[in-house]
Amino acid sequence: MKKSILITGGAGFIGSHVVRLFVNKYPDYRIINLDCLTYAGNLENLSDLEGKGNYHFSKVDILDEVALKKVFNDYQVTDVIHLAAESHVDRSITDPLAFVKTNVLGTVNLLNAAREYWQVPEGHLFYQISTDEVYGSLDDGGYFVESTPYDPKSPYSASKASSDHFVRAYANTYGLRTLISNCSNNYGPNQFPEKLIPLCIHNIKNNKPLPVYGKGENVRDWLFVEDHAVAIDLVFHKGQINQTYNIGGFNEWQNIAIVKLLCKLLDQKLGRKPGSSEELITFVKDRAGHDLRYAIDAEKINKELGWKPSVTFEQGIDKTIDWYLENEAWLENVTSGDYQKYYQKHYG
Ligand code: NAD
Ligand code: TYD
Repeated sequence: MKKSILITGGAGFIGSHVVRLFVNKYPDYRIINLDCLTYAGNLENLSDLEGKGNYHFSKVDILDEVALKKVFNDYQVTDVIHLAAESHVDRSITDPLAFVKTNVLGTVNLLNAAREYWQVPEGHLFYQISTDEVYGSLDDGGYFVESTPYDPKSPYSASKASSDHFVRAYANTYGLRTLISNCSNNYGPNQFPEKLIPLCIHNIKNNKPLPVYGKGENVRDWLFVEDHAVAIDLVFHKGQINQTYNIGGFNEWQNIAIVKLLCKLLDQKLGRKPGSSEELITFVKDRAGHDLRYAIDAEKINKELGWKPSVTFEQGIDKTIDWYLENEAWLENVTSGDYQKYYQKHYG
């Protein structure tokens, strides 16, 4: 084995795309998917990898120091790509402590396990997957660049910012070799239907209200999840040690425009009367402390590593809608909790 890479949060949305890319592209790497399978983790996302010799799954909570240590020893981990997190802003508003536990304490546990197991940092890498939300909120002008000061405004982004600070502190204090990338909003197959795009697809299909927070004028910068996975592969292999890379698609949309686009496309795909799904749009109370706008300047990763998105938003959203329409069972399982049955059947 050339490398033995621990990917945390691999059963989640982005993690599953990263695990699949690495397992298929690098047959001579050992890939260990470490995930405790919260409501957001679903091994059905990776059912196509079952039986592949270089793929391993370990059901471990990153808060469990002893179990983490054992995984490092058992698999002789050489590198970490860390995605495991509580990831939904609305949940962080109702239960901030859960975010501190997993995102802050869990990350520090993982840093400790890596440092202790590796002894000398040379030849190893700790790659932290972060978000553009750590930079705070923009008004109508400007972009987040890598040197933008951290200014997190939600409990979620505060917990991610804190964990990024710990990663940098471990690089500075203990010489750990690290990388951080900060990505904009992802969309695509396998996203849990609590986030805006899959929630709307699910609700349009089922003729349920589409809750738009406030006036729907907040802006997000959307990137197709497979393009994020490709960027992570590039940063992992070619990124300069202890550097930060911003990842984004230069693809800003107001929420209301996205919701209307989804209505239009689903009316077409479901053979409904044009305009009928828009009647489901319901303006609801705004999210507390709702960040107005995120927008990533992805020039550094483009110039240094040659990365750019491979699909347009129109192509990505079309693929995404088709995936959700073709995977009703997946949606049914994750919304009912039945995805746990997959784990029990395959892992006992
Ligand atoms: P997700 O919620 O879909 O998946 C998170 C995964 O982590 C799940 O499989 C869950 O079971 C696992 N997990 C949670 N707590 C754990 C714990 N204590 N121990 C072990 N596993 C645990 O999240 P996502 O959207 O795929 O995001 C993945 C990472 O990317 C996160 O770190 C997130 O902050 C970051 N990110 C997400 C986005 C986005 O738009 N979704 C954008 C930029 C960065
Ligand atoms: P979300 O997908 O939760 O991602 P994030 O908060 O991390 O950007 O939300 C995207 C945007 O959509 C955000 O501005 C909040 C808004 N939103 C709604 O208007 N209605 C909803 O039901 C949800 C989940 C989000």
